[in-house]
Amino acid sequence: PTRKRLAGKKALVTAGPTFEAIDPVRFIGNHSTGKMGYALAEALRDEGADVTLLSGPTHLPDPAGIQTRRVQTAQEMFDAAQAPFAEADLAVFAAAVADYTPREVATQKIKKTDDDLFIPLKRTPDIAQELGKRKRPGQLTVGFALETHDEEHHALGKLTRKNLDWIVLNSLNDPGAGFGHDTNKVTLHGRNGEVRQFALKSKVEVARDLVDTMVASLRTLPQH
Ligand code: C5P
Repeated sequence: PTRKRLAGKKALVTAGPTFEAIDPVRFIGNHSTGKMGYALAEALRDEGADVTLLSGPTHLPDPAGIQTRRVQTAQEMFDAAQAPFAEADLAVFAAAVADYTPREVATQKIKKTDDDLFIPLKRTPDIAQELGKRKRPGQLTVGFALETHDEEHHALGKLTRKNLDWIVLNSLNDPGAGFGHDTNKVTLHGRNGEVRQFALKSKVEVARDLVDTMVASLRTLPQH
């Protein structure tokens, strides 16, 4: 865009999966590719924002003109998010963060036996929720919800629990939406009850729609 609507603004974007180590060779992960989060970071950059991208393991290159920090685990992403969030005017939580991690990481490769194996898991920090508690007036936060059932109900619960301004709902029931695809179909729910539905389009175009929404929302917030 010629007129950069986010010039002077700082943005934090989380993206990609997290990998939670089980032993030196195995991990618990998920199918997130990071495409949506990276597209968002780039769309924010294109509007002039100073973007920090906190990324789990992906196959995507570091985007030009964006400060990219790579992490592996939910805990590392949580720790790395603190400082950039404190400075951010807006934050988008697009990462597919593991909810559970092995209670202990085996120092040596776990050997197979004929028995079943049980791995105790503990909860990870919810980055969006914890940062939501530290949100300042004027800060705008956006989260994602990927649901298979009762989509709207679950999405609205997250909006409140994580103190978000917007939640982006993508349903796995929509063909072409969600993990791995280059396209996405989203519905946005705002904290004041606003609903915006968008057609199936490329993740790059979806990112621009989301940035348009964020630009408009920022204008309604008190600025420091
Ligand atoms: O509760 P759920 O994981 O479905 O919420 C998804 C939203 O919360 C996404 O925006 C995701 O990035 C964020 N989240 C997070 N840290 C977690 C789990 C989810 O930031 N540990």
